[in-house]
Amino acid sequence: MLQIRKAEQKDMETLVDFNNRLALETENRPLDLPRLRASMQAILDDERKGVYLLACDGEEVLGQIMYVFEWSTWRNANFMWLTDLYVPPQHRKRGVFKALFRAVMDFYHSREDIIGLRFYVDKTNTAVVPLYKKVGWKESNYNLWEIKKHD
Ligand SMILES: CC(C)(COP(=O)(O)OP(=O)(O)OC[C@H]1O[C@@H](n2cnc3c(N)ncnc32)[C@H](O)[C@@H]1OP(=O)(O)O)[C@@H](O)C(=O)NCCC(=O)NCCS
Repeated sequence: MLQIRKAEQKDMETLVDFNNRLALETENRPLDLPRLRASMQAILDDERKGVYLLACDGEEVLGQIMYVFEWSTWRNANFMWLTDLYVPPQHRKRGVFKALFRAVMDFYHSREDIIGLRFYVDKTNTAVVPLYKKVGWKESNYNLWEIKKHD
């Protein structure tokens, strides 16, 4: 039976492992592990940076998704950004994503200060697009632009 809970300090190594594997699989990109670990600690210490939801079967963690809020000036409300969705290959096609997404949607509908959900996806990660369409996502009319100090 799948349960959804927030990540805690004891989940640190799982978060590091899942995010490292996610970056390799979806962007063929090895992450700097000390930096990733520091980033996970920063999130676990401060919910304003984001919250990881974990799908668990007892003590075993089967998948993760992260959300963080962005204030929308024109709407006087929050967008809820989703990121870092990952289910390890051995647990796929068993409804782990669906359980995580259901928890996100329940939360979204329960809060009047959240008016929308958003995520970005790497242009090369086409495998996941049919799944997103299936659960109701629509492509935004915004393009994403950036300036950055490092990758
Ligand atoms: C995408 C991912 C999270 C799906 O997780 P999952 O737990 O296997 O998904 P579920 O078992 O809940 O599947 C939900 C539905 O989508 C279907 N589905 C799953 N993966 C799919 C895919 N890649 N393409 C199309 N449909 C897919 C399932 O068959 C299921 O359909 P059903 O409702 O008819 O049964 C997982 O494959 C993954 O972690 N991929 C690598 C990381 C990634 O791409 N993350 C997203 C970055 S933006």
